[in-house]
Amino acid sequence: MVITPCLEKTGNIYLTKIQHQHHSVSGKDLKQHQHHNDDPSGFADFFRTNLNEFNDKPITFSYPVPRWLKGTLIRNGGGRYEMGQRSFTNAFDGFGKLHSFTFYGNGTVSMSARFLQTEYYKKSLASHTIAPYFQFGKLVPPYNEIEKMESLINQMENLNVNVYRIRDSKTGQYEYMSMNDIWNVYQIEEDSLKTVQLIKPPMNVKSHIYIPGFSSAHPIKEFSKETYLTYLMSVSIVPYIKSIMTLYRMTSVGHREAIVTWDIEAQTYMHSFSVTKNYVIFIGQPVSINTMKVAEYGDIAEAMEYRFNDPTFIYVVDLRTNKVTTVKYDKFVSYFHHINAYEDNNKIIVDICTQNSSNMFSMDLNYIRSISLRNSITLYSGIKRFTIDIVTPSVSVESFEPSKK
Ligand SMILES: [Fe+2]
Repeated sequence: MVITPCLEKTGNIYLTKIQHQHHSVSGKDLKQHQHHNDDPSGFADFFRTNLNEFNDKPITFSYPVPRWLKGTLIRNGGGRYEMGQRSFTNAFDGFGKLHSFTFYGNGTVSMSARFLQTEYYKKSLASHTIAPYFQFGKLVPPYNEIEKMESLINQMENLNVNVYRIRDSKTGQYEYMSMNDIWNVYQIEEDSLKTVQLIKPPMNVKSHIYIPGFSSAHPIKEFSKETYLTYLMSVSIVPYIKSIMTLYRMTSVGHREAIVTWDIEAQTYMHSFSVTKNYVIFIGQPVSINTMKVAEYGDIAEAMEYRFNDPTFIYVVDLRTNKVTTVKYDKFVSYFHHINAYEDNNKIIVDICTQNSSNMFSMDLNYIRSISLRNSITLYSGIKRFTIDIVTPSVSVESFEPSKK
């Protein structure tokens, strides 16, 4: 079996020293550990609750840390999988927790850990249950009908996927933000890992026929610049009106400059994209979230649709002219992550990491926490290389060998 979890989502970072010093196991935790004790690798610990929060604890490693290594590495991910009597069932839904490693440039290192203080998390703490916000997977027990309505209004606020540093183009100051695949971000403090504020950057969508707010947890730095590129996807709720995408330039945690907006050919769920020196490349897989089903089921995992007979549409933006070229690839593709992209002989090469449709199932916590259940799922992961010619326009696709075992 090959499993490809989105590794930026694994929020619990376990180091032997830290565990010995600070990891206290409550009776309830112990029961959970005993229940899922068939995994000696420690992998499942990435997906279990760890409530410890601490600041600048000195840590050591098995080997000396190079003295040239200086700076702070901040990681994000789920750190708590239940609140009161209610639990998450999908690994993507853990309450966001930040961990940082500070390398002092003299061989010493310290570590900090702190939960992201979103409104969602604070309300959940105060109410001793998972507050009515939107999740990726199902809850146990589920929301009642009123909570379900509230969750659709509150939307998603658990920014547990990624952390970015961006230099404010006006002030020159570095700012830090916590992100998910949504438009809003939470600003955080680098040193203390404290949550500063929710930022709702302005968006250019005014019409009520769109549900805006879908974006990427993987913005990409522009070639030889300090600004980042990202997108806003606005999903049409009217069948004959196409959804729209806007390419944006991020110039600080809160400022966005719209570059170009275009209609997309078909609904698509997008998590990442690519940037080369002159181009931005989006691959619109025929995999999408059915908004009607979202309202019906109250979660995203169940509302994902895989249109196996549909083509994949690729959108290429030329950053010199802001012209958008749509390139059709006749086959089905399912993926989350772009790997790399570059320009070569007037062609654009994009590598992505593809999988089959059962990958969502593998993020179920019951499966991810159990080595025997994990091994019962057959997953395919493979790399596809797209060679795009925007003059003709056309694309050729090469598949690399899927991972074995
Ligand atoms: Fe990701």
